[in-house]
Amino acid sequence: MLNWLARVLRSSIGRKSGMAISGLLLVGFTITHLLGNLTLLQSNAAFNAYAQKLHDLGPLLTVAELGLLALFLFHIVLAIAVSMRNQGARSVGYRAAGGTGQKTIGSRTMRFTALLLLIFLVIHIADFRWKKLVGAEGSEDLAQLVVDRITQPFGMTLYIVAALVLGLHLSHGFKSAFQSLGLRHNKFNRSIECLGWALAIGLALGFAAIPVALVMGAGGAS
Ligand code: HEM
Repeated sequence: MLNWLARVLRSSIGRKSGMAISGLLLVGFTITHLLGNLTLLQSNAAFNAYAQKLHDLGPLLTVAELGLLALFLFHIVLAIAVSMRNQGARSVGYRAAGGTGQKTIGSRTMRFTALLLLIFLVIHIADFRWKKLVGAEGSEDLAQLVVDRITQPFGMTLYIVAALVLGLHLSHGFKSAFQSLGLRHNKFNRSIECLGWALAIGLALGFAAIPVALVMGAGGAS
């Protein structure tokens, strides 16, 4: 395993394609995560039932969670490796990993949005996952824990900003992944770009809408 990782890290193609594939898999996770979280707008009971279904998977869920953690770590380690190589080979920045194309606000801020997302994830896991892991008081009603957190002014701001930062990151990251995998072709570039924007905007607005809708009275105990 370590040998394999060292080989991926040593090759430029390995680093770029590893980052692209792990990034696209993480997009898949965020889509399913958003769909699950939207049940909160129906009712607390619907969200808790969804969470319970996941937890009923038992060891399978643990395997999926460890896989997800490995995916995040893999993506981050490769991002650092690509970034360091680019800097070493003159300051051409992350955009070089995505090849040609115009600079956008998404491409210019890629490292910054990556760092903000990492900080958000640490707080986010501490918010919800950690309390449940240690069996803290009140953690049985996960929906209420989430609602309480993301409807306070600070929590709400944090979750809305994180959603927008995620959108910005994906506005460049999605199309860049296709470029890194050599899957860009004149015929499809436009569709890939549109799909990337649709995902970026859809995920950003979808996640940001949850605290906003809850404050406006959506969801509820029953
Ligand atoms: C309104 C926004 C969000 C809400 C309400 C929310 C809610 C939750 C909850 C309740 C959990 C714990 C699940 C459990 O233990 O059963 C969780 C875990 C997690 N969330 Fe979020 N989340 C939001 C946004 C995000 C975003 C934007 C990302 C990624 C960029 C993200 C990534 C994760 C990850 C990686 C986990 C750990 C997965 C696990 O251990 O099962 N979340 N989220």
